[in-house]
Amino acid sequence: MSVVVHVPLGDRSYDIHIGQGLLKKSSQYLLPFLARPKIVIVTDSNVGPLHLTTLTGALSEAGIEYASLTLPAGEGTKSWKFLSETIDFFLDEKVERSDVVIALGGGVIGDLVGFATAILRRGVDFVQIPTSLLAQVDSSVGGKTGINASQGKNLIGAFHQPKLVLADIDILETLKPRDFLAGYGEVVKYGLLGSERFFAWLEKNGPSLAQGNIAARIEAVRISCQMKADIVERDETEQGERALLNLGHTFCHALEAATGYSDRLLHGEGVAIGCALAFETSARLGLCAQEAPSRLREHLRTMKIKTDIRDIEGDMPNAAKILSLMGQDKKVVGKQLNFILARSIGESFMTSDVSNKVIMAVIEDSMKSGAGS
Ligand code: GLY
Repeated sequence: MSVVVHVPLGDRSYDIHIGQGLLKKSSQYLLPFLARPKIVIVTDSNVGPLHLTTLTGALSEAGIEYASLTLPAGEGTKSWKFLSETIDFFLDEKVERSDVVIALGGGVIGDLVGFATAILRRGVDFVQIPTSLLAQVDSSVGGKTGINASQGKNLIGAFHQPKLVLADIDILETLKPRDFLAGYGEVVKYGLLGSERFFAWLEKNGPSLAQGNIAARIEAVRISCQMKADIVERDETEQGERALLNLGHTFCHALEAATGYSDRLLHGEGVAIGCALAFETSARLGLCAQEAPSRLREHLRTMKIKTDIRDIEGDMPNAAKILSLMGQDKKVVGKQLNFILARSIGESFMTSDVSNKVIMAVIEDSMKSGAGS
């Protein structure tokens, strides 16, 4: 069983295939894009041992030559050092402008390889084979690519759309439960930002989806990708509406910085907490009913995903420090903090009109045990 979401962007249009067994059948999807039977693959040290041979087996069977590069797993790979290593690998392998490169991995590999192909020979095509839930529903779609700078995350990059995305749902079975649930934070985000109906569907189907229900997983990835495709079609380079996809991210990026980008807080966990805090802020500003953050928190708690700052293990800096870290976020425009807030579940909007006092109180309450539920 597989479904297709089309991303309509003129000559940069592409399909996202979502279903089971896609890696084993990958050559049939790739062949139409190949000018010659040769392809290069970049993966990481977690994903490679699990999935590379399935991909290369499919390529060999179809008579496609390949070469692969395995980079260290982890956020540190989204750096100048590994960008340069990746480009050297492409040049050593004599990748031409008409060739195709495969990114086999989660968000780190997708972002790095996407950026490397954006600048190699002024642009080479690439295919995303996302292996985490987070990458399947968010980072592999929409063409944001890049690396981190010492000054902040994703500060160096380019918009470069993939030619094809293969979201193989079977791969999700190899994820650790915590990584799967972190990706679920991004899935919930779509319901919150644009569809109460999807959020209600997740309330009903989230637990079975987490337990491995394949049809529910395919449907959740399909709806998330369709919602993202619709937004990207209207605002590819984030001049306006696409910023809604950053719901929860201003809080999230500050919390990631506060925890040193370590595995104390995974990105999707930060997004879930950030969404809960954005809804709490909206309720305190009288923009949405208090039932909205309460309903969201209840769903996150049912799913056993981090919901509040106090759920993060270890010491955290105080609220003032977290607020100052929010000021480092790249979504700060003219020193003004931009927030995505909500009028209800499924209706979000962007504003810069939020008092620091309210944000501080929301952060402080989210740190106290027993508060804000
Ligand atoms: N992850 C947010 C975006 O792609 O715009």
